[in-house]
Amino acid sequence: MTSLKFRNNDEMPILGLGTFRSEPNEVYNAVLLAIKIGYRHIDCAAAYGNEKEVGKAIAEAVKQGLVTREDLWVTSKLWNAFHGEENVIPALNQTLKDLQLNYLDLYLIHWPVALKKGTEMPEKASDFIPLSEVPLTNTWKGMEATLKQGLARHIGVSNFNENQLKEIMATAVHQPEMNQVEMHPFLQQEELKAFCVQNDILLTAYAPLGSLVDENTTLRLLENDRIKSIANARNMSPAQVALAYTIQRGVAVIPKSINEARLLQNLETLNHTLTEEDMALLKDLDKGHRFIDGKFWEVENGPYTADSIWNN
Ligand code: A2P
Repeated sequence: MTSLKFRNNDEMPILGLGTFRSEPNEVYNAVLLAIKIGYRHIDCAAAYGNEKEVGKAIAEAVKQGLVTREDLWVTSKLWNAFHGEENVIPALNQTLKDLQLNYLDLYLIHWPVALKKGTEMPEKASDFIPLSEVPLTNTWKGMEATLKQGLARHIGVSNFNENQLKEIMATAVHQPEMNQVEMHPFLQQEELKAFCVQNDILLTAYAPLGSLVDENTTLRLLENDRIKSIANARNMSPAQVALAYTIQRGVAVIPKSINEARLLQNLETLNHTLTEEDMALLKDLDKGHRFIDGKFWEVENGPYTADSIWNN
């Protein structure tokens, strides 16, 4: 499988390049190199603070004749400080300006968390807006407007649980088409995945390599013995085993790398297939473990807790 099909038959390459935590000075080279070696799907977000550099790299790739705009699938995300119907199009226009594009292939609500205008990362309760004041259904109307104006070809969400999806689905004119969530062999999200499949919502896995965010964590996905032994047996790297597992579950992956050898290695996952036996062994690794735990939305007396985001 090399792509995921949307309801209108548009196809998104199943493996894309993640750009979270790619520094502005590194991301230009990573994106240009990625496109050179065959990546056609780039995952961005206003919050990553590097869309201008990503845009420069895309423009350069087009200028060099490596690709046309239409060859690429570009996703971006609405930052939390722009929830509310009237804020969506202005936020998307800024992203389009930064990326030097006139449309996105996919636009997602980044989190079911609303912040006051001007807040990058919240520090105190008054930096937040509770969802009772700015309902997800209201922000979704703004997302639908981006389709009407031809600024986005598809719309969806990120970090939404089943209840939050149901809430917007109840009044949506255009149903959400994608949910981008953390997913890898240690966090397989079986129930959420089943709900999405049932409702024709595609999934993209972020942190598909178990994100190396926490240097001190003892739970290292790519150092797991079972993953390493399958990698040895199949002549793959542990990263390729992790990516192939998620891809073979029908979920898109967006591994981040700024390193040429690893960019190539990740893309070459598409040349490998795990056996049913490998898949069964990997299924057993699920620990419900989040590397991106959402605790950064918890402040004293604040309206959000990690538990309310993931489970309510
Ligand atoms: P680097 O950018 O130096 O390659 P995730 O996408 O799960 O958040 O993981 C990204 C992290 O994994 C980055 O630190 C990235 O580092 C590293 N990484 C990316 N590809 C590979 C790979 N094939 N093998 C090992 N580490 C990788």
